[in-house]
Amino acid sequence: MDKKFYFECRTCGHKIEGFEEWFSNNQSCPKCGDHKINTVYSTNQNDIKKLISPDAKPESLWHYFDFLPLNNKENIVTEGEGIAPIERWGFLEEFAKRKYNLELEIYVNRNDKSFATGTFKDKGAALAASVLKEHGIKEYVVASTGNTATAFAHYLAKAGISCSIFVPYDSLADSEAHIGTYGQKLFRVKGDYAMAKRIAAEYSKKYGILMTGGNLDPLRLEAKKTQVYEMLRVIGKIPDVYIQALSGGTGPFAVEKAIKDLKITGLVEKMPRFLLSQGDRCAPQAHAWEKAKNEGFPEGFEKTYPVYDNPETLIPTIATGDPKMYPLMAPLVKSTGGEIFEVNEEHAVNIARLVGYERVIKIGPASGAGLLGLFEALKRGYIKNGETIFLNMGESANRALDFMKEVAYTTSEVDSVDQCKRFDRENYKKELWDFFDNNY
Ligand SMILES: Cc1ncc(COP(=O)(O)O)c(C=O)c1O
Ligand SMILES: [Zn+2]
Repeated sequence: MDKKFYFECRTCGHKIEGFEEWFSNNQSCPKCGDHKINTVYSTNQNDIKKLISPDAKPESLWHYFDFLPLNNKENIVTEGEGIAPIERWGFLEEFAKRKYNLELEIYVNRNDKSFATGTFKDKGAALAASVLKEHGIKEYVVASTGNTATAFAHYLAKAGISCSIFVPYDSLADSEAHIGTYGQKLFRVKGDYAMAKRIAAEYSKKYGILMTGGNLDPLRLEAKKTQVYEMLRVIGKIPDVYIQALSGGTGPFAVEKAIKDLKITGLVEKMPRFLLSQGDRCAPQAHAWEKAKNEGFPEGFEKTYPVYDNPETLIPTIATGDPKMYPLMAPLVKSTGGEIFEVNEEHAVNIARLVGYERVIKIGPASGAGLLGLFEALKRGYIKNGETIFLNMGESANRALDFMKEVAYTTSEVDSVDQCKRFDRENYKKELWDFFDNNY
């Protein structure tokens, strides 16, 4: 076995040789049976320095091959994912200055440009497809709210791996089209995400097929970790604040992992403050957090959280009603001085219009929830003057056509020129901004 990396059980410290042993033990620790492992590399962490230097010209996630749990480059499955642009968005900075008198640097990670599915799930799916290929695995099971499903369907199809996908009843129809087109199998479960996960697990057991290991699965975590390398490469530092829409929590956990690994390099001094937003129609972690905060975070606060069955939400992509990761997420957020809070899902359309106008890009509803996280955090006073903000914006509008129809409300139906009022883009802009000036 190649010793590029091994796994360490986070519960009992037992060493697991690699994926061979991990997969054959049903993705659990052979000693204590727990499912949480840490990937440890023999690669010198200081080697990252040349990869993040200003003259590095990365073409994909695989620029960071030495820091990913794959042994042989021949097994790489890629579409150029993972090097999504990180852009400074002046219009957000101007708003923060105008409304709250805060001088901020705001960077947005534009995963909408990622090659395969236009979401930040492409990274994990590319790594998963490559690792499964390396281990000769031909079948795989995924339970997902939509974006992970589509990304896995795509990359596993490229690797010739059969992927059985379980999504909840309200998962967006456009995802379905993508998955079917690639010849993968979609099971739309008549229930919520928790039920989709349950049936997927039963299917995986029944046929003896490997299934995604959840939010701490090294296949997803190690891939998403590379966003920290990209922060260092593009911004040159770890930002003060990390904002993202929170569903299961893979993103923030991955940021934590990368920063812990990099500690010995001297490149990172601190963890960013995690400001994590949840859509208000399915916000169990935000609700648990608010309650714990009001009670002064009593001992063991992280063990108490509500479970919402069959949540009815406008943003199903991020609706995890049974947040099993909360007991790990809450202490992490707390240790960074961060917050978990809800945002108004109805405003996702407004933010998509604003971004569409200001940046000429189309974003999906889950990205809307992330961006609203910034506006809400400003309103609640969670951001301080002079800070650098990194906003991980997860998706394009590729698979949210119904959402886009709502966003695009400028159409007038006419049958004569008399009905066509002269158009001025500036008036439209004013309407868009009035909404945010009045609500945030
Ligand atoms: C666009 C988008 N944003 C945010 C999330 C939340 O990801 P996580 O909480 O797993 O980091 C997801 C995952 O479903 C997503 O697809
Ligand atoms: Zn163990």
